Amino acid sequence: MDFKGSHILSVDQFDRHSVEAIFKVADSMIPYASRQSVTRVLEGAILGNMFFEPSTRTRVSFGCAWNLLGGEVRETTEIKSSAIAKGESFYDTARVLSGYSDMIVMRHQTAGSVEEFSRASRVPVINGGDGANEHPSQALLDLYTISREMAHRGQSIDNLHIALVGDLKFGRAVHSLCMLLTLFDNIHFTLISPEELKLEPQYIEKIKSSAHVVTESTELQAGIQDADIIYVTRTQEERFASSEEASRYKGLFRLNQAIYTEFCKPNTVIMHPLPRDSRADANELDNDLNENPNLAIFRQTDNGVLIRMALFALILDVVEQLPASSRPVNWYTARRF
Ligand code: CP
Repeated sequence: MDFKGSHILSVDQFDRHSVEAIFKVADSMIPYASRQSVTRVLEGAILGNMFFEPSTRTRVSFGCAWNLLGGEVRETTEIKSSAIAKGESFYDTARVLSGYSDMIVMRHQTAGSVEEFSRASRVPVINGGDGANEHPSQALLDLYTISREMAHRGQSIDNLHIALVGDLKFGRAVHSLCMLLTLFDNIHFTLISPEELKLEPQYIEKIKSSAHVVTESTELQAGIQDADIIYVTRTQEERFASSEEASRYKGLFRLNQAIYTEFCKPNTVIMHPLPRDSRADANELDNDLNENPNLAIFRQTDNGVLIRMALFALILDVVEQLPASSRPVNWYTARRF
C-alpha cells in the first residue's frame, strides 16, 4: 500500500506487508512517545480532529500523536457544536474543513459517514470510528499490542487463539480486528456472545474463507480455555433502540480474577478496546484484574499513540526526516514505556 496522501477508512486497505510497515514505524516512535526525544517534523501542520460521537482515548491520542510530531490540533466535539446541526452536508463540511487542515480524523455515529466525508475532502481523512462499522486505528493498535505481548511469550500473531467476548454484533473494534487478523496464518477465533449479538455472517464467512478456524459459544468459562488472548468488549448501548434493550445483555459475561485463575492458561493476555463499563450492572472486566500483569488494556492505550504517530508520519511522508529532526527533551520525564 502507498500510504502517502491516503485516506485510512477501512482495514480492507491493508495487506500483511503494510501492517508490518506501520508496526516498524510505530516502534521508531517510542523515543518521542516516551519523552526521550522531541521532533518538530510537523511544525506548521494542522490536524482537524472531528469527533461527532463521544471519545476519550481515540480523540486525545490522535491529538497527542500529532502534537508529539510538532503539529497543532483544532477540535470539534459533538454534532451540536458543529454546523452539521444546522443541516450542513458532509460534502460542504469536508470542503470547508479540508481548507483549514493538513489532515482530518473523524468519528461519526453513521456507518459509511467518514468514507462519504473523505470523498469531498482535499486532505487525507482517517476513520476514528463510523457507527458499528469500522475502527481501523483501534484494530492496528490492538494487533500491535498482540504482536508485542505474544513476542514477550516467545510467540507471534500466526497460530494465535483469540477469544472475543461480548457484543460482537455492534462492536466496530471487533469487526476491524477480526478482519485484520485474517491477514495472518492459522488464527483460531472463539466468539463468545449472546445469540442476538453474534458476529454477523459476512465477517464469519470472510474469516473462514481465509482458512482460519471459528468456534462460537454462549459460555464464557468454556470459551476462554486455551485462549492466548481474551478480548473483552462492552455492550454498545448507543447502538440499541433503547437502554432497556441494551440492559438485557449487560453483565452476561464478567471476567474477574477468580474466573481467570480457574479457567485460563497461565499468562493469557487480557485485552479490551475500552472504555470498560465498570457500573455494577455491567462490569465486564473486573477491577480485581488491575494488578494482573497479563492485563494489557493500558499497554493498548499507550500503543495507540505510537500507531497514530506512525499513520501520520507515513501519510505525510516524513518518516525519513525524523532522525535529522530529533533532539533530546530538556525536561524531567517519568518512565512511560
Ligand atoms: N477505544 C475507543 O475508541 O475509545 P474512545 O471511545 O474513548 O475513543
